[in-house]
Formats: sequence, C-alpha cells, structure tokens
Amino acid sequence: MSAGREFVGPYRMFHLIRAGALFEIWAVRPVAEKNAYAMKWLPPGRDHTRAAAAELKHEYSVGKTLDHPSIINTVDFGTGKDGTYLVMELFKTPNLKQQIQGGIEQLHWRLETILDEAAAALDHMHQKGWVHRDIKPDNYLVNDENHVRLIDFNLSMRIKKGLGKLLSGKSTVQGTYSYMPPEQIRGKSVDERADVYSFGCMVYELMTGKLPFTGTSMNELLNKHLRAKPAPLGMLQKNVQPAFADLVHSMLAKDPKDRPDNLREFRQALKAGRCFHIKPEKPAEDDEKASAESDSL
Ligand SMILES: Nc1ncnc2c1ncn2[C@@H]1O[C@H](COP(=O)(O)OP(=O)(O)O)[C@@H](O)[C@H]1O
Ligand SMILES: [Mg+2]
Repeated sequence: MSAGREFVGPYRMFHLIRAGALFEIWAVRPVAEKNAYAMKWLPPGRDHTRAAAAELKHEYSVGKTLDHPSIINTVDFGTGKDGTYLVMELFKTPNLKQQIQGGIEQLHWRLETILDEAAAALDHMHQKGWVHRDIKPDNYLVNDENHVRLIDFNLSMRIKKGLGKLLSGKSTVQGTYSYMPPEQIRGKSVDERADVYSFGCMVYELMTGKLPFTGTSMNELLNKHLRAKPAPLGMLQKNVQPAFADLVHSMLAKDPKDRPDNLREFRQALKAGRCFHIKPEKPAEDDEKASAESDSL
C-alpha cells in the first residue's frame, strides 16, 4: 500500500477503493477538473517491474478500442517517477462478486436486466476482436440503477482465426480458476467461446449462489473443469425454466464446439423472458443497507 502520496502524475489521490496483488484502485481527480475518475495504479518500488507496467499499458490499449455504454470508459495512461497508471471512468459501486456475497436474492428481481447488459458488453468486446479471458463477477460493476460496467482487460487477447490459431502455440495459464474454461487450462488458443464458458459459470453462480465447480486444491478444481459435470442448475434453483438451464449448461460444455458461438442466443432467451418461471420480487427490507454500502465507496 502506498498511502500518503498526494499526487500521481497530474491526479490528486482521494481514497483507495481496492488493493490487489499488484495494482491499487483509487478515486482520483485531475488538478484542474471537477470530475472524479478511477485510477488503476502500479506504485513505484519493488513491484514496479517492466512486465507489470506493460500489463497496464496493454489494458489501456485494449480499453481504448472499446466503446460501449456497459464497458468502462478508458481515459488516460501515464508512466514516470510516480509509477504507472491507467485512468478510467469512476463507477462507484461494489463489484458483482461483493453483491453475490450480500445474497443472490438481492439480485434476482433485476437479474435479467443485469445479465443482458453484462452479455451486451462482452459481445461488444468480441465484435471488436477481443477475448476478455477473465470473465467473472469481480470484473463486472453493477449499480442500483442496473447499469453495468465490464472492467479489467489485463488478460484480454486478440481473437485468432484460421492459421493464426494453429500457429499461436501454448500460452501460460492465466485467469481465475473458478471460471476457467478447459482450453485455457490446457494452454490452447482461445476464442469468444472461452468467455462464453466463464460467463456461463457466472450465470450459474448468480442463479444458484454456488459455483459450478469447487475444489479443496487448485488441481482438484482444474480437473473438475476438465472432466466433471456440474450439478444440474435446475436442482439448485427450482425457479429456473428448463430450457434456460439447458442453455447455461451448454455454455459450460467442455469442448468449445459444443457451446454457443457467442452470447446472442443467451440474450435472446433473456429478452423472451425464458429465465425464471416466476418473476422474483424485489426484497423490501435491504434497500437502505444497499444504498449505504454504495455510498461508502
Ligand atoms: N472504474 C472503477 N470504478 C470503481 N471501482 C473500480 C473501478 N475499476 C476497478 N474497481 C474496483 O477495483 C477492483 C479491482 O479492479 P480490477 O481492474 O479488476 O483489478 P485487478 O486487475 O487487480 O483484478 C474491482 O473489482 C472493483 O471493485
Ligand atoms: Mg479484476
């Protein structure tokens, strides 16, 4: 942690939102501006390696190619004596993982809207030729008005087609194990369908409160992604329509060829109201708590 620093480049540091292994996320404000932004910052010092700085630069270059209301707006990048930083739109709200931890019932009455926005954002990335490679609830921000922002393009890669795919060779295993598709675990080249798998894991979790696969070790977890069948979604969530449960399971197919090619079929199912049997109602009591939480960020 690098508390105590007043400025990074031309940005005044307000407060720390979250500290990860390498990067810190801060609320910041440019000296001559009223608007606040979010900064993903690699502070100077021991962890400021060339590789880590390059990751942030990569995230900036990916973000700059994207233009969608449900994708975080990438604004600025800088590197120098204050370390390396990426500046983006500030979206003050807990991420979707934190909201799942607050209870999935709080999300169900608005889940169809959230999922449609989340899928639209990812679909835009795919259309721009990117595979995100780290789709998970921690990388989606959702506010009380059901607005969504997809973030964190650190691991995103160009989708390779045809010959490029064959020549791409093995890559190292990166990403989050709980949402990781078999081909990514095997270090094979990945395309949109890798994100479809991770997105399927996230939908499963949002609907049931449980991940499709868990393990007491990394090996056990990865082996389940490679070989195990998830418990039927309909068994853990009685209020799901069977066709929708089948669609989510098809997104979790081991072989990318057996998955939907993209998220369009999923969005169509949502639009046609094929998700829950009975539309969940808004829980009344936690309204105040939820808004107090988001204010505190
Ligand atoms: N633009 C933003 N506005 C508000 N909070 C953000 C923003 N970007 C990231 N965060 C918060 O910081 C967390 C980590 O950001 P992320 O870019 O995913 O970093 P990491 O590469 O460490 O995973 C997010 O899960 C979210 O809670
Ligand atoms: Mg992240």
